[in-house]
Amino acid sequence: MSALPVTVPDLTDPRTFLPEPPHEVWAALRRRDAPHFQDRPDAPGFHSVTRYAQIDAVLRDSATYSSEWGMTLDTALGERDAAAGRMIELTDPPHHRRLRRLVSGGLTRSAAHAMEGALRERVERWVERAVRQGETDFVGAVGARVPAAATGLLLGLPEPEWRPLSELAGRAVCGSLTEHDEEVGDLAARRRSTTAANGRLLTHLALLLEDETGLAGDGLVRRLLEADLDGDRLTGEEVLLNCLNLAIGGNETTKNATAAGVAAFARHPEQWQWLRAHPEHLDRAIEEVLRHTTPPLHLVRTVTRPVVLGGKPLAPGDLLCLWLPSANRDEDVFPDADAFRVDRAANPHLSFTSGRHFCLGAALARTQLRLVFGALLARVDGIRLLGSPARRASNFVAAYDTLPVALTAA
Ligand code: HEM
Repeated sequence: MSALPVTVPDLTDPRTFLPEPPHEVWAALRRRDAPHFQDRPDAPGFHSVTRYAQIDAVLRDSATYSSEWGMTLDTALGERDAAAGRMIELTDPPHHRRLRRLVSGGLTRSAAHAMEGALRERVERWVERAVRQGETDFVGAVGARVPAAATGLLLGLPEPEWRPLSELAGRAVCGSLTEHDEEVGDLAARRRSTTAANGRLLTHLALLLEDETGLAGDGLVRRLLEADLDGDRLTGEEVLLNCLNLAIGGNETTKNATAAGVAAFARHPEQWQWLRAHPEHLDRAIEEVLRHTTPPLHLVRTVTRPVVLGGKPLAPGDLLCLWLPSANRDEDVFPDADAFRVDRAANPHLSFTSGRHFCLGAALARTQLRLVFGALLARVDGIRLLGSPARRASNFVAAYDTLPVALTAA
Protein backbone atom coordinates (compact mmCIF):
# COMPACT_ATOMS: atom_id res chain seq x y z
CA MET A 1 0.00 0.00 0.00
CA SER A 2 1.39 3.42 -0.93
CA ALA A 3 2.30 5.89 1.82
CA LEU A 4 -0.22 8.64 2.47
CA PRO A 5 0.73 12.10 1.17
CA VAL A 6 -0.48 13.61 4.46
CA THR A 7 0.00 12.82 8.13
CA VAL A 8 -3.29 11.63 9.59
CA PRO A 9 -3.96 13.64 12.76
CA ASP A 10 -5.73 12.24 15.83
CA LEU A 11 -9.32 12.03 14.60
CA THR A 12 -10.64 11.59 18.12
CA ASP A 13 -9.34 15.02 19.16
CA PRO A 14 -11.98 17.77 18.68
CA ARG A 15 -9.20 20.29 17.97
CA THR A 16 -8.49 18.45 14.70
CA PHE A 17 -11.86 19.74 13.46
CA LEU A 18 -11.20 23.43 14.17
CA PRO A 19 -11.43 25.87 12.57
CA GLU A 20 -12.59 23.53 9.77
CA PRO A 21 -12.84 19.73 9.47
CA PRO A 22 -9.74 18.02 7.96
CA HIS A 23 -11.03 17.79 4.37
CA GLU A 24 -7.55 17.40 2.84
CA VAL A 25 -6.81 14.42 5.13
CA TRP A 26 -10.09 12.72 4.19
CA ALA A 27 -9.38 13.42 0.48
CA ALA A 28 -6.04 11.60 0.83
CA LEU A 29 -7.70 8.71 2.71
CA ARG A 30 -10.36 8.41 -0.01
CA ARG A 31 -7.68 7.77 -2.60
CA ARG A 32 -6.89 4.45 -0.91
CA ASP A 33 -9.42 1.66 -0.97
CA ALA A 34 -8.90 0.31 2.54
CA PRO A 35 -10.28 2.05 5.61
CA HIS A 36 -7.53 3.70 7.68
CA PHE A 37 -6.80 2.25 11.12
CA GLN A 38 -6.06 4.60 14.02
CA ASP A 39 -4.55 2.92 17.05
CA ARG A 40 -5.14 4.39 20.52
CA PRO A 41 -2.89 4.05 23.54
CA ASP A 42 -5.75 4.25 26.08
CA ALA A 43 -8.66 2.68 24.18
CA PRO A 44 -9.40 0.33 21.28
CA GLY A 45 -8.48 1.54 17.82
CA PHE A 46 -10.96 2.20 15.02
CA HIS A 47 -11.17 2.15 11.24
CA SER A 48 -11.95 5.40 9.40
CA VAL A 49 -14.23 4.89 6.40
CA THR A 50 -14.08 7.84 4.02
CA ARG A 51 -15.43 6.74 0.62
CA TYR A 52 -19.06 7.41 -0.28
CA ALA A 53 -19.73 3.92 -1.65
CA GLN A 54 -18.29 2.18 1.42
CA ILE A 55 -20.09 4.45 3.90
CA ASP A 56 -23.37 3.97 2.05
CA ALA A 57 -22.88 0.18 1.99
CA VAL A 58 -22.16 0.08 5.74
CA LEU A 59 -25.21 2.24 6.54
CA ARG A 60 -27.46 -0.05 4.51
CA ASP A 61 -26.31 -3.28 6.17
CA SER A 62 -27.28 -3.17 9.83
CA ALA A 63 -26.94 -6.96 10.17
CA THR A 64 -23.18 -6.71 9.57
CA TYR A 65 -22.65 -3.23 11.03
CA SER A 66 -24.48 -2.67 14.30
CA SER A 67 -25.59 0.61 15.91
CA GLU A 68 -26.00 -0.89 19.36
CA TRP A 69 -22.55 -0.46 20.89
CA GLY A 70 -22.53 3.32 20.43
CA MET A 71 -22.78 5.84 17.62
CA THR A 72 -20.09 8.37 18.59
CA LEU A 73 -16.37 7.72 18.84
CA ASP A 74 -16.25 9.04 22.41
CA THR A 75 -18.87 6.56 23.58
CA ALA A 76 -17.90 3.60 21.38
CA LEU A 77 -14.23 3.77 22.44
CA GLY A 78 -15.35 3.10 26.01
CA GLU A 79 -18.09 0.91 27.39
CA ARG A 80 -21.30 -0.03 25.61
CA ASP A 81 -23.63 2.99 25.50
CA ALA A 82 -26.01 2.89 28.48
CA ALA A 83 -29.03 3.60 26.21
CA ALA A 84 -28.16 0.74 23.80
CA GLY A 85 -31.18 -1.19 22.59
CA ARG A 86 -33.65 1.33 24.04
CA MET A 87 -32.99 4.57 22.12
CA ILE A 88 -33.91 4.45 18.44
CA GLU A 89 -30.50 5.43 17.08
CA LEU A 90 -28.83 2.78 19.25
CA THR A 91 -30.87 -0.19 18.12
CA ASP A 92 -30.71 -2.81 15.40
CA PRO A 93 -33.63 -4.77 13.95
CA PRO A 94 -35.96 -6.08 15.29
CA HIS A 95 -35.87 -3.56 18.21
CA HIS A 96 -35.26 -0.74 15.77
CA ARG A 97 -38.29 -1.61 13.64
CA ARG A 98 -40.50 -1.51 16.70
CA LEU A 99 -39.22 1.87 17.96
CA ARG A 100 -39.30 3.41 14.49
CA ARG A 101 -42.94 2.39 14.05
CA LEU A 102 -43.85 4.04 17.33
CA VAL A 103 -41.71 7.21 17.02
CA SER A 104 -42.27 7.98 13.33
CA GLY A 105 -45.98 8.86 13.67
CA GLY A 106 -45.33 12.50 14.63
CA LEU A 107 -42.56 13.02 12.10
CA THR A 108 -44.16 12.42 8.72
CA ARG A 109 -43.92 14.87 5.85
CA SER A 110 -47.50 15.95 6.49
CA ALA A 111 -46.71 16.59 10.19
CA ALA A 112 -43.78 18.81 9.10
CA HIS A 113 -46.10 20.58 6.68
CA ALA A 114 -48.67 21.10 9.43
CA MET A 115 -46.04 22.72 11.65
CA GLU A 116 -44.92 25.10 8.91
CA GLY A 117 -47.61 27.68 9.69
CA ALA A 118 -46.73 27.91 13.39
CA LEU A 119 -43.04 28.23 12.56
CA ARG A 120 -43.30 30.65 9.63
CA GLU A 121 -44.62 33.60 11.63
CA ARG A 122 -41.85 33.17 14.23
CA VAL A 123 -39.04 32.71 11.70
CA GLU A 124 -40.09 35.81 9.75
CA ARG A 125 -40.20 37.86 12.94
CA TRP A 126 -36.73 36.73 14.05
CA VAL A 127 -35.16 37.21 10.61
CA GLU A 128 -36.79 40.63 10.23
CA ARG A 129 -35.42 41.75 13.58
CA ALA A 130 -31.91 40.47 12.70
CA VAL A 131 -32.00 42.39 9.39
CA ARG A 132 -33.16 45.54 11.19
CA GLN A 133 -30.24 45.24 13.61
CA GLY A 134 -27.85 44.87 10.67
CA GLU A 135 -25.07 43.34 12.74
CA THR A 136 -26.04 40.30 14.74
CA ASP A 137 -25.01 36.92 16.09
CA PHE A 138 -27.01 34.74 13.70
CA VAL A 139 -26.92 31.67 15.99
CA GLY A 140 -28.51 33.50 18.94
CA ALA A 141 -30.84 35.64 16.82
CA VAL A 142 -32.23 32.94 14.51
CA GLY A 143 -30.21 29.73 14.15
CA ALA A 144 -30.81 28.28 17.61
CA ARG A 145 -34.35 29.64 17.99
CA VAL A 146 -35.87 27.89 15.00
CA PRO A 147 -35.06 24.27 15.93
CA ALA A 148 -35.79 25.05 19.59
CA ALA A 149 -39.31 26.12 18.54
CA ALA A 150 -39.71 23.23 16.09
CA THR A 151 -38.66 20.63 18.67
CA GLY A 152 -40.80 22.25 21.37
CA LEU A 153 -43.85 22.26 19.09
CA LEU A 154 -43.15 18.71 17.95
CA LEU A 155 -42.83 17.36 21.47
CA GLY A 156 -45.73 19.51 22.70
CA LEU A 157 -43.75 21.30 25.44
CA PRO A 158 -44.69 24.65 27.04
CA GLU A 159 -42.99 27.57 25.22
CA PRO A 160 -40.78 28.73 28.14
CA GLU A 161 -39.14 25.28 28.03
CA TRP A 162 -38.02 25.43 24.38
CA ARG A 163 -34.77 27.40 24.75
CA PRO A 164 -33.55 25.72 27.98
CA LEU A 165 -34.12 22.32 26.37
CA SER A 166 -32.19 23.29 23.24
CA GLU A 167 -29.26 24.60 25.32
CA LEU A 168 -29.13 21.42 27.39
CA ALA A 169 -29.30 19.34 24.20
CA GLY A 170 -26.35 21.25 22.71
CA ARG A 171 -24.25 20.56 25.80
CA ALA A 172 -25.26 16.90 25.79
CA VAL A 173 -23.73 16.59 22.31
CA CYS A 174 -20.62 18.73 22.70
CA GLY A 175 -19.97 18.80 26.46
CA SER A 176 -18.65 21.99 28.01
CA LEU A 177 -14.92 21.76 27.30
CA THR A 178 -13.58 24.37 24.88
CA GLU A 179 -10.68 24.09 22.47
CA HIS A 180 -8.61 26.08 25.01
CA ASP A 181 -9.09 23.52 27.80
CA GLU A 182 -6.03 21.26 27.88
CA GLU A 183 -8.36 18.39 28.91
CA VAL A 184 -10.30 18.51 25.63
CA GLY A 185 -7.76 16.14 24.05
CA ASP A 186 -8.39 13.57 26.79
CA LEU A 187 -11.05 10.96 26.01
CA ALA A 188 -11.95 10.32 29.66
CA ALA A 189 -12.38 14.04 30.39
CA ARG A 190 -14.62 14.49 27.34
CA ARG A 191 -16.71 11.51 28.35
CA ARG A 192 -17.13 12.93 31.88
CA SER A 193 -18.26 16.24 30.41
CA THR A 194 -20.82 14.82 27.95
CA THR A 195 -22.07 12.20 30.44
CA ALA A 196 -22.75 14.93 33.02
CA ALA A 197 -24.52 17.06 30.37
CA ASN A 198 -26.60 14.06 29.23
CA GLY A 199 -27.56 13.43 32.84
CA ARG A 200 -28.76 17.04 33.21
CA LEU A 201 -30.80 16.79 29.98
CA LEU A 202 -32.33 13.48 31.05
CA THR A 203 -33.30 14.80 34.51
CA HIS A 204 -34.78 17.93 32.96
CA LEU A 205 -36.80 15.90 30.45
CA ALA A 206 -37.99 13.50 33.14
CA LEU A 207 -39.41 16.46 35.10
CA LEU A 208 -41.14 17.82 31.99
CA LEU A 209 -42.67 14.44 31.22
CA GLU A 210 -43.81 13.99 34.80
CA ASP A 211 -45.84 17.21 34.73
CA GLU A 212 -48.35 15.95 32.18
CA THR A 213 -50.57 19.03 32.54
CA GLY A 214 -48.00 21.10 30.60
CA LEU A 215 -47.89 18.71 27.65
CA ALA A 216 -49.94 19.52 24.53
CA GLY A 217 -52.52 16.87 23.70
CA ASP A 218 -51.34 16.56 20.09
CA GLY A 219 -47.60 16.67 20.96
CA LEU A 220 -45.28 13.73 20.36
CA VAL A 221 -44.54 13.15 24.06
CA ARG A 222 -48.18 12.49 24.80
CA ARG A 223 -48.50 10.37 21.67
CA LEU A 224 -45.51 8.30 22.72
CA LEU A 225 -46.88 7.88 26.24
CA GLU A 226 -50.21 6.74 24.80
CA ALA A 227 -48.98 4.94 21.65
CA ASP A 228 -50.51 1.50 21.35
CA LEU A 229 -49.81 -0.46 18.19
CA ASP A 230 -51.68 -3.73 18.49
CA GLY A 231 -50.96 -3.88 22.21
CA ASP A 232 -47.31 -2.82 21.84
CA ARG A 233 -46.49 0.13 24.11
CA LEU A 234 -43.31 1.99 25.00
CA THR A 235 -42.13 1.80 28.60
CA GLY A 236 -41.71 5.10 30.49
CA GLU A 237 -37.94 4.73 30.16
CA GLU A 238 -38.18 4.19 26.39
CA VAL A 239 -40.34 7.32 26.04
CA LEU A 240 -37.77 9.32 28.02
CA LEU A 241 -34.75 8.06 26.07
CA ASN A 242 -36.44 8.61 22.72
CA CYS A 243 -37.48 12.14 23.71
CA LEU A 244 -33.82 12.71 24.56
CA ASN A 245 -32.94 11.42 21.09
CA LEU A 246 -35.46 13.83 19.53
CA ALA A 247 -34.30 16.78 21.64
CA ILE A 248 -30.70 16.21 20.58
CA GLY A 249 -31.41 15.21 16.95
CA GLY A 250 -33.90 18.03 16.49
CA ASN A 251 -31.87 20.88 17.91
CA GLU A 252 -28.17 20.64 17.38
CA THR A 253 -28.03 19.47 13.76
CA THR A 254 -30.56 21.96 12.37
CA LYS A 255 -29.05 24.86 14.32
CA ASN A 256 -25.64 24.09 12.85
CA ALA A 257 -26.96 23.55 9.32
CA THR A 258 -28.50 27.03 9.42
CA ALA A 259 -25.37 28.67 10.82
CA ALA A 260 -23.04 26.83 8.45
CA GLY A 261 -25.29 27.73 5.50
CA VAL A 262 -25.22 31.43 6.37
CA ALA A 263 -21.42 31.25 6.77
CA ALA A 264 -21.13 29.49 3.38
CA PHE A 265 -23.17 32.19 1.64
CA ALA A 266 -21.05 34.90 3.33
CA ARG A 267 -17.90 33.21 1.98
CA HIS A 268 -19.42 32.74 -1.50
CA PRO A 269 -21.38 35.94 -2.18
CA GLU A 270 -21.78 35.05 -5.86
CA GLN A 271 -23.84 32.01 -4.77
CA TRP A 272 -26.14 34.23 -2.71
CA GLN A 273 -26.60 36.57 -5.67
CA TRP A 274 -27.34 33.62 -7.96
CA LEU A 275 -29.95 32.31 -5.54
CA ARG A 276 -31.51 35.76 -5.20
CA ALA A 277 -31.89 35.78 -8.97
CA HIS A 278 -33.24 32.18 -8.97
CA PRO A 279 -35.34 31.80 -5.78
CA GLU A 280 -37.21 28.92 -7.44
CA HIS A 281 -34.06 26.85 -6.77
CA LEU A 282 -34.20 27.31 -2.99
CA ASP A 283 -34.66 23.55 -2.45
CA ARG A 284 -31.52 22.78 -4.45
CA ALA A 285 -29.61 25.36 -2.46
CA ILE A 286 -30.71 23.77 0.80
CA GLU A 287 -29.50 20.34 -0.34
CA GLU A 288 -26.15 21.93 -1.23
CA VAL A 289 -25.93 23.58 2.20
CA LEU A 290 -26.57 20.15 3.75
CA ARG A 291 -23.95 18.48 1.53
CA HIS A 292 -21.22 21.08 1.65
CA THR A 293 -21.43 21.85 5.38
CA THR A 294 -22.47 18.33 6.61
CA PRO A 295 -23.52 19.10 10.22
CA PRO A 296 -22.96 15.52 11.54
CA LEU A 297 -19.25 14.71 11.30
CA HIS A 298 -19.28 11.01 12.02
CA LEU A 299 -21.26 7.93 13.02
CA VAL A 300 -19.88 4.72 14.46
CA ARG A 301 -20.90 1.17 13.59
CA THR A 302 -19.61 -2.08 15.12
CA VAL A 303 -18.79 -5.12 12.98
CA THR A 304 -20.87 -8.18 13.91
CA ARG A 305 -19.33 -10.90 11.67
CA PRO A 306 -16.13 -11.43 9.66
CA VAL A 307 -16.33 -9.24 6.56
CA VAL A 308 -14.04 -7.53 4.04
CA LEU A 309 -14.40 -3.79 3.41
CA GLY A 310 -12.26 -2.05 0.81
CA GLY A 311 -10.01 -5.12 0.69
CA LYS A 312 -9.44 -5.04 4.45
CA PRO A 313 -10.59 -8.01 6.57
CA LEU A 314 -12.60 -6.91 9.60
CA ALA A 315 -13.46 -8.93 12.69
CA PRO A 316 -16.51 -8.90 14.99
CA GLY A 317 -16.16 -6.06 17.51
CA ASP A 318 -14.11 -3.84 15.17
CA LEU A 319 -15.26 -0.21 15.25
CA LEU A 320 -15.90 1.68 12.02
CA CYS A 321 -16.04 5.46 12.03
CA LEU A 322 -18.00 6.77 9.04
CA TRP A 323 -16.90 10.32 8.19
CA LEU A 324 -19.99 11.85 6.55
CA PRO A 325 -18.38 15.10 5.30
CA SER A 326 -15.88 12.92 3.45
CA ALA A 327 -18.66 10.93 1.72
CA ASN A 328 -20.26 14.23 0.77
CA ARG A 329 -17.08 15.42 -0.93
CA ASP A 330 -16.29 12.18 -2.75
CA GLU A 331 -15.26 13.11 -6.29
CA ASP A 332 -16.62 9.78 -7.60
CA VAL A 333 -20.14 11.02 -6.79
CA PHE A 334 -20.01 14.83 -6.76
CA PRO A 335 -18.24 16.65 -9.61
CA ASP A 336 -16.24 19.64 -8.34
CA ALA A 337 -16.94 18.25 -4.87
CA ASP A 338 -15.16 20.91 -2.80
CA ALA A 339 -17.06 23.75 -4.44
CA PHE A 340 -20.20 25.25 -2.86
CA ARG A 341 -22.52 25.37 -5.88
CA VAL A 342 -26.15 25.98 -5.10
CA ASP A 343 -27.26 25.14 -8.65
CA ARG A 344 -26.09 21.52 -8.18
CA ALA A 345 -28.90 19.38 -9.60
CA ALA A 346 -28.06 15.80 -8.55
CA ASN A 347 -27.19 15.81 -4.86
CA PRO A 348 -27.47 12.40 -3.17
CA HIS A 349 -25.66 13.60 -0.02
CA LEU A 350 -25.50 11.46 3.11
CA SER A 351 -26.11 14.22 5.68
CA PHE A 352 -29.30 12.41 6.76
CA THR A 353 -27.51 9.07 6.12
CA SER A 354 -29.10 6.16 4.28
CA GLY A 355 -30.56 2.82 5.24
CA ARG A 356 -32.74 1.97 8.21
CA HIS A 357 -31.65 4.86 10.42
CA PHE A 358 -32.29 7.51 7.73
CA CYS A 359 -33.09 10.69 9.68
CA LEU A 360 -36.69 10.66 10.88
CA GLY A 361 -36.63 14.46 11.12
CA ALA A 362 -35.41 15.12 7.56
CA ALA A 363 -38.73 16.61 6.37
CA LEU A 364 -38.94 18.84 9.44
CA ALA A 365 -35.30 19.92 9.08
CA ARG A 366 -35.83 20.79 5.41
CA THR A 367 -38.96 22.77 6.31
CA GLN A 368 -36.99 24.82 8.84
CA LEU A 369 -34.12 25.49 6.44
CA ARG A 370 -36.58 26.51 3.71
CA LEU A 371 -38.26 28.95 6.09
CA VAL A 372 -34.99 30.53 7.29
CA PHE A 373 -33.30 30.86 3.89
CA GLY A 374 -36.60 31.86 2.25
CA ALA A 375 -37.03 34.68 4.80
CA LEU A 376 -33.41 35.79 4.26
CA LEU A 377 -33.77 35.70 0.46
CA ALA A 378 -36.77 38.01 0.62
CA ARG A 379 -34.98 40.58 2.80
CA VAL A 380 -31.21 40.37 2.50
CA ASP A 381 -28.98 41.52 -0.33
CA GLY A 382 -25.62 40.71 1.22
CA ILE A 383 -24.21 38.62 4.10
CA ARG A 384 -20.77 39.45 5.51
CA LEU A 385 -18.87 37.67 8.28
CA LEU A 386 -17.78 39.91 11.14
CA GLY A 387 -14.68 38.10 12.36
CA SER A 388 -14.44 34.36 12.88
CA PRO A 389 -17.40 32.27 14.02
CA ALA A 390 -16.96 30.68 17.47
CA ARG A 391 -17.05 26.91 17.07
CA ARG A 392 -17.63 24.25 19.72
CA ALA A 393 -14.96 21.63 20.27
CA SER A 394 -16.50 18.43 18.87
CA ASN A 395 -15.57 15.68 16.45
CA PHE A 396 -19.22 14.58 16.29
CA VAL A 397 -21.05 17.68 15.03
CA ALA A 398 -19.73 20.76 13.23
CA ALA A 399 -21.14 23.05 15.93
CA TYR A 400 -21.37 26.83 16.11
CA ASP A 401 -21.54 28.84 19.33
CA THR A 402 -21.83 32.21 17.62
CA LEU A 403 -21.80 33.52 14.06
CA PRO A 404 -21.34 37.31 13.94
CA VAL A 405 -22.60 38.63 10.59
CA ALA A 406 -23.64 41.87 8.93
CA LEU A 407 -26.88 41.57 6.95
CA THR A 408 -27.51 44.22 4.29
CA ALA A 409 -31.21 44.81 3.69
CA ALA A 410 -32.41 44.32 0.12
C1 HEM B 1 -30.17 19.33 9.39
C2 HEM B 1 -30.76 18.64 10.32
C3 HEM B 1 -30.52 17.19 10.64
C4 HEM B 1 -29.49 16.37 10.29
C5 HEM B 1 -28.28 16.70 9.45
C6 HEM B 1 -29.77 15.06 10.87
C7 HEM B 1 -28.95 13.94 10.74
C8 HEM B 1 -29.28 12.68 11.18
C9 HEM B 1 -28.47 11.52 10.97
C10 HEM B 1 -27.10 11.53 10.33
C11 HEM B 1 -29.14 10.44 11.49
C12 HEM B 1 -28.77 8.98 11.36
C13 HEM B 1 -28.07 8.37 12.54
C14 HEM B 1 -27.61 6.99 12.19
O1 HEM B 1 -27.62 6.54 11.03
O2 HEM B 1 -27.14 6.34 13.12
C15 HEM B 1 -30.36 10.94 12.05
C16 HEM B 1 -31.30 10.15 12.68
C17 HEM B 1 -32.37 10.68 13.35
N1 HEM B 1 -32.78 11.99 13.37
FE1 HEM B 1 -31.93 13.52 12.37
N2 HEM B 1 -30.94 15.12 11.55
C18 HEM B 1 -31.44 16.40 11.44
C19 HEM B 1 -32.63 16.87 11.97
C20 HEM B 1 -33.49 16.13 12.73
C21 HEM B 1 -34.72 16.64 13.31
C22 HEM B 1 -35.28 18.04 13.10
C23 HEM B 1 -35.26 15.61 14.04
C24 HEM B 1 -36.52 15.57 14.83
C25 HEM B 1 -37.01 16.50 15.55
C26 HEM B 1 -34.38 14.46 13.90
C27 HEM B 1 -34.60 13.22 14.46
C28 HEM B 1 -33.88 12.09 14.17
C29 HEM B 1 -34.21 10.77 14.70
C30 HEM B 1 -35.36 10.44 15.63
C31 HEM B 1 -33.26 9.90 14.19
C32 HEM B 1 -33.15 8.39 14.47
C33 HEM B 1 -33.68 7.58 13.31
C34 HEM B 1 -33.40 6.10 13.49
O3 HEM B 1 -32.46 5.74 14.21
O4 HEM B 1 -34.14 5.32 12.89
N3 HEM B 1 -33.32 14.82 13.11
N4 HEM B 1 -30.44 12.29 11.83
